[in-house]
Amino acid sequence: MLKLGVNIDHVATVREARYRGQGRGEPDPVAAALVCEAAGAHGITAHLREDRRHIQDRDVWRLRESIKTRLNFEMANAPEIVAIALKLKPEIVCLVPERRQEVTTEGGLDAVGNLEALTETRKRMNDAGIEVSLFIAPDPTQVEAAARLGAQFIELHTGAFAEHFDQKQARNQELERLVAAAKQAHGLGLKVNAGHGLNYQNLPVLHLVPHLVELNIGHSIVSRAITTGLSVAVKDMLALMETYRN
Ligand code: PXP
Repeated sequence: MLKLGVNIDHVATVREARYRGQGRGEPDPVAAALVCEAAGAHGITAHLREDRRHIQDRDVWRLRESIKTRLNFEMANAPEIVAIALKLKPEIVCLVPERRQEVTTEGGLDAVGNLEALTETRKRMNDAGIEVSLFIAPDPTQVEAAARLGAQFIELHTGAFAEHFDQKQARNQELERLVAAAKQAHGLGLKVNAGHGLNYQNLPVLHLVPHLVELNIGHSIVSRAITTGLSVAVKDMLALMETYRN
């Protein structure tokens, strides 16, 4: 069964737009995570960025305490964040690029160019009982490097596939790259996740990629929640206004 990890970063983005620096505010990404779990999500994904632009430190600790599924902690391979991950003990970390030099041309982590540093972090995480995934482009050299450095998972970057979804030829090319990378990774003993830009239109086509274990999806789910939830939100506000007497 294909599993769903819901990325709740975008919930925090909305909160930070109003409450940045205040240590409080709505919407609460942890409350959102609990709703996702209750709806059947298999895991929660959150990215504590070095610049803290959306998820804050307090969010990840509260997530760790309250979620009942699995915490997938997205992180840059930066000393400060590595130290937090080792204390936080998520079930899995997904190493992602945050700086330009860590990024391959397709936008994934440059596992080939950062082999030593990534291997060291992979070992430290595994020694602490945390599995490691690498967010990489569907590029054979990157898949090879992920296997060489001993990662348990790769997360295939589906951004290019999503971006080219409306152009049939380019979409099919991206799909073929994902299929080839998934097969290669599986053959090398890696487990395969995928994510970025997946939505309600492109997901059925992604079913053509073999060996997928889990998809990490954020923006499209949070976007849909806004439109599907607006009706109730407006009705609740109108109900509060109804008792006004001038
Ligand atoms: N996977 C990784 C590694 C990510 O960094 C993100 C967020 O950019 C996602 C999945 C989810 O992407 P989206 O919000 O486009 O669904």
